[in-house]
Amino acid sequence: MNQERTLVLIKPDGVQRSLIGEIITRFERKGLKLAGLKLLKLPREKANELYEPHRGKFFYDYLIQFMTSTPIVAIALQGRNAIELVRLVNGATKPAESEPGSIRGDFSIDITHNVVHASDSPENAERELGILFDPGEILEYQRIDEAIIYSPEI
Ligand code: CMP
Repeated sequence: MNQERTLVLIKPDGVQRSLIGEIITRFERKGLKLAGLKLLKLPREKANELYEPHRGKFFYDYLIQFMTSTPIVAIALQGRNAIELVRLVNGATKPAESEPGSIRGDFSIDITHNVVHASDSPENAERELGILFDPGEILEYQRIDEAIIYSPEI
């Protein structure tokens, strides 16, 4: 059924602001399935690995410092076109471009303290899920509402 998996992180500001439930609810209501979920303090080595594509950019050190400061929530989400849909639910990275109704559009005003992160491609989703989750921590299961969420692919 063309299912994809992607990684979402609720960043330290989202956890500190008690937005965990609000954010997970938005993904659940969209129809996406939780495949993995954990609260953790991101180790510096994992932060460096995760943000390797941004190494050397002017904001890199500040981003790593922020992401390792206090706990985050890591979420593996599964669904049809999950990577693209999750990015829509999250909203644009630039504060002036994140639409009201999106998580960033509703809850953030800053490009670093922007509440959530999500993988931007299938390659990065696989890479990033591998950084945050051991294989046994991502679960394969059927949810009873899938029959009504999805029409068959025709
Ligand atoms: P995220 O989705 O976690 O992926 C990379 C992060 O880098 C991004 O969200 C922002 O928080 C941060 N970022 C991207 N561009 C900039 C920028 N121009 N200035 C500061 N931070 C940035």
